[in-house]
Amino acid sequence: MEIKIRRARVEDAIKIRDLHVAAIRKTCAPDYTAEQIQAWSKDRKVERYRWAMEEGGESMFVALDQNIVVGFSSCYDDEVCSVYVHPQYVARGIGAILLQVVEDEIRGTGYDEAFLNATLTAQNFYVRYGWVNTGGLKSEERNGVGIPCMGMSKRF
Ligand SMILES: CC(C)(COP(=O)(O)OP(=O)(O)OC[C@H]1O[C@@H](n2cnc3c(N)ncnc32)[C@H](O)[C@@H]1OP(=O)(O)O)[C@@H](O)C(=O)NCCC(=O)NCCS
Repeated sequence: MEIKIRRARVEDAIKIRDLHVAAIRKTCAPDYTAEQIQAWSKDRKVERYRWAMEEGGESMFVALDQNIVVGFSSCYDDEVCSVYVHPQYVARGIGAILLQVVEDEIRGTGYDEAFLNATLTAQNFYVRYGWVNTGGLKSEERNGVGIPCMGMSKRF
């Protein structure tokens, strides 16, 4: 398997959305209630992903295996907004590459510290790469339901 990384394009938006939903419903499911997973993953509009990478100004990257989108990550200013790997492709080093890419992007913009809200699922993945819990346990609301996550940061 040879993973390639490139910047996401608007035509990738459907694949990114589908991967995002699949990762929440499969990989994150053991760490959240069924109600939380449903509220978090439902009604995800493709337009939101297109907007994020165009007007929204997020830097978004995709990981490709033979032109198949197997993961994505994104950042905005000094914040890592997302790192998601397709459930069928986890534990093969793809998440590590996608995290490195957004860390490089944030550092390249001139920041010496980055922030993120980690899912309970991914918290220890970030710890593995030097991130520390600094923001405390938070709750992000999705469709009226609170989704617990951990505020983390990393100094470069
Ligand atoms: C978290 C996620 C992105 C990791 O991607 P991945 O491709 O499976 O991770 P990798 O294979 O690159 O793992 C790299 C290292 O992190 C470790 N790791 C991966 N996931 C981990 C986890 N959940 N907890 C602890 N360590 C983890 C691996 O063991 C590996 O360590 P090693 O090099 O010592 O063997 C992926 O599991 C995922 O998409 N999760 C669901 C979505 C999510 O919660 N994203 C975070 C949003 S904030």
